[in-house]
Amino acid sequence: MIKFLDLYKQDKILHKKILKKISNLFKNGDFILGKEVQIFENEFSKFCGSKYAISCANGTDALTLALKSLNLPINSEVLLPAMTYCSTAFSIVEANLKPVLVDTGYLSSTICTKDLRKKINKKTKVILPVHLHGSVANLKEIRKIIKGKKIYLIDDCAQAHGAYDDTNTQKKKIGSTTDISCFSLYPGKNLGAYGDAGIITTNSLNLFKRLRKLRNLGSEKKFKHEFIGMNSRLDTIQAIILNEKLKKLSNNNFKRRKIANFYNQNISNPKIQKLKYSKSCVFHQYVILTEKREKLIKLLNKNKIQYGFHYPNAIHQLDVFKKSLGKNKFKNAEKLAKDSISIPIDPNLKTNDIKKIVKVLNNF
Ligand SMILES: Cc1ncc(COP(=O)(O)O)c(C=O)c1O
Repeated sequence: MIKFLDLYKQDKILHKKILKKISNLFKNGDFILGKEVQIFENEFSKFCGSKYAISCANGTDALTLALKSLNLPINSEVLLPAMTYCSTAFSIVEANLKPVLVDTGYLSSTICTKDLRKKINKKTKVILPVHLHGSVANLKEIRKIIKGKKIYLIDDCAQAHGAYDDTNTQKKKIGSTTDISCFSLYPGKNLGAYGDAGIITTNSLNLFKRLRKLRNLGSEKKFKHEFIGMNSRLDTIQAIILNEKLKKLSNNNFKRRKIANFYNQNISNPKIQKLKYSKSCVFHQYVILTEKREKLIKLLNKNKIQYGFHYPNAIHQLDVFKKSLGKNKFKNAEKLAKDSISIPIDPNLKTNDIKKIVKVLNNF
């Protein structure tokens, strides 16, 4: 069986150290917002090149907290791509704002800036691009579009830890180039905990201060609650795991890129379309498209190659949004939902397995 992702194998080398640290934690009882949480926040902001980082309970909360921190009027419009994980849209509704969908580019994982330009109006207060599959959205163009307007830029970085903002001439990492960046640290992500976890980065001291309180019931001092916040803290246990795994992130991203390069160069079946990824994509997923998806699935099953879907429905096609957003058409996002399939991109895939995957795809 060629596994889609083998976390046990990926992290085995770290287990001993992690277990020792957790055993010490049991003794010192530093369970909530402990020292390791602060260390992780410092190390992660250093990694991204941002001034500040605020950890929280998961990526969905990271987005919700980020949107809430802006104190926008109810039903202000937030523009997001029609193809993303449900959480991006849910966080907008959770923050009492209105999601407005924008198509993705043709054969692209990210938001179409041409369509984005058309959707901006006086009620638009936030642009929320998603670096889906690890491919970075065209932030330079988005900045150009919103220049001079009072519109915030928040990016959903849940799938792109360590990717560079290709459009930034100083070669900065994502997490340091927008008003607020939101990361999920769900186990399967490029940087993942052993449970739910998330982190937010920003260069704004004001937003940092607000976000620190917002994720802790509106409070930084015991029994002093300044506003209604969420209980969305990162566990110290997860911070211990993340501190060890962060050290391996760049190397794992390097391995992912190498595998993706091999796929790019060697998958050559006219029945398969490849996506156009950003230059510094960190390949959280490697996604191919085919109009014969059912047939390909049968073949992958027969050859014991695991696969995934990211994602089988665009946002307006989800049951929960059918009534409110379902009448609109997003051609490119719908094509992704219908034809895409994610193939293994585990950083520790063996060369023979990668070659087998390519062979199976080219013979289909
Ligand atoms: C693009 C995107 N946004 C948001 C999230 C939500 O993160 P979490 O599952 O940690 O709440 C995810 C994770 O699944 C994601 O992939």
